[in-house]
Amino acid sequence: MFSIVNDARFWDRAARKYAADPISDMAGYERTLERTRAYLKNDDAVLEVGCGTGTTALRLASSVARIVGTDISGEMIAIARDKAEKEGIANASFEVGTPDAAPWPDASFDVVLGFNLLHLVSARAAAIAGIHRLLKPGGHFITKTPCLKEMNPVFRIVLPVMQMIGKAPYVSFLSGEDLDREMREAGFEIVERGRHASRGKDARPFLVARRR
Ligand SMILES: C[S@@+](CC[C@H](N)C(=O)[O-])C[C@H]1O[C@@H](n2cnc3c(N)ncnc32)[C@H](O)[C@@H]1O
Repeated sequence: MFSIVNDARFWDRAARKYAADPISDMAGYERTLERTRAYLKNDDAVLEVGCGTGTTALRLASSVARIVGTDISGEMIAIARDKAEKEGIANASFEVGTPDAAPWPDASFDVVLGFNLLHLVSARAAAIAGIHRLLKPGGHFITKTPCLKEMNPVFRIVLPVMQMIGKAPYVSFLSGEDLDREMREAGFEIVERGRHASRGKDARPFLVARRR
C-alpha cells in the first residue's frame, strides 16, 4: 500500500494547501530557527531534506553560503522555486530527491536539516545513513520530528483508517528516545536536545546530531 511513488503523489496533492496554511506555533518555529542558526556559518553549504515549500530554507539562506532543499514532491519543489525567485534569494536552490538517493559526493555539506520529515520516511535507517554520508566529519544534522508515540493514542486508530482512504501518507510511531538511539547507531553524537513549542505538550523533539 505504501510506496515512495504513492507518498510523492500524496504530498503533490497536499502542496498548495500546505503552502497556504499558516505556521501553527510561530513562536516555537522562531525558537527552532534561532537554535538552528547557532550552528550555521556564513561559508556553510547546507542541505535541507524534505524541505516542502522551502519556507525554512529561504528563512535561513542569508546565514549561509548556499542552501539546497530536496523533497520527494515535485509540486512542493515547484512552489519553493517560485518563492525563491519572487523573494530574490539567489543562494537557495531546490531539487526533487530523497535523503538516501542524493546525487552529491560524500561529505558535501556542513549542515543537513530535516524538519517534520523523519516520521514520514519508511526507509528511515537508509535516510539517516544517507545524511551521515553527505555530511562532512564534524558536520551537524538538525531535526525536529513529530513523535507519535508521545501523542494522543487515538492516532493509532485514526491514522490507519485515513491511510486506507488515501487521506494520510506513511507515518511511523516514534518516540524521542527512538530517534536519539537511531542517530547514535548511525554514527552521530547528540549535542543538543530541545522542545520548542510555546504552548501545550510538545511531541516534536529538536535534536542536533554531530557526525563523528
Ligand atoms: C510535513 S512536510 C514538512 C515540510 C517542511 N520540512 C516543513 O517543516 O514545513 C513533509 C515533507 O516531506 C516530504 N517527504 C515525505 N516523505 C519523504 C521522503 N521519503 N523523502 C523526502 N521527502 C519526503 C513531503 O513531500 C513534504 O514536503
